[in-house]
Amino acid sequence: MIPLDINGKRQTVDLPGETPLLWTLRDELGLTGTKFGCGMALCGACTVHVDGQAVRSCITPISAVANKKVVTIEAVGADAVGKALQAAWVDTGVPQCGYCQAGQIMSAAALLKRKPKPSDVEIDEAMSGNICRCGTYTRIRAAIKQAAVQQGGTR
Ligand code: FES
Ligand code: FES
Repeated sequence: MIPLDINGKRQTVDLPGETPLLWTLRDELGLTGTKFGCGMALCGACTVHVDGQAVRSCITPISAVANKKVVTIEAVGADAVGKALQAAWVDTGVPQCGYCQAGQIMSAAALLKRKPKPSDVEIDEAMSGNICRCGTYTRIRAAIKQAAVQQGGTR
């Protein structure tokens, strides 16, 4: 049994410790907002937060997150940064097909919590591991800036 803290809810799962967090979220816990893209830490679609850090859940075994705080896209709007990003994403009309967007927002939220006033370079660096096949990068950057302004964190 592996003890997990997912979106503030403590629970245990009866799975081998090497089971990827992504599979556990989607198949065991029904949290399907986190997406499977490459399964090899190359696309960012599966990004979640573990103790506030953006991590690729496809290559993260659940044994590595036992008793750590995992936050998924389903709960990103529970705090002010997440709310600001959700509003900015809507205002800016960021998504096209939408498949990558949960991962994009999770990486953006980790960035703004760590660095409320990111420069363009810092945004690009933080978001570089999140691939968007629809090419929404310009709108993603604009939405992150809007959320930073809304949070009082402009340069
Ligand atoms: S599915 Fe995890 S990085 Fe692509
Ligand atoms: S919106 Fe389609 S892959 Fe990013």
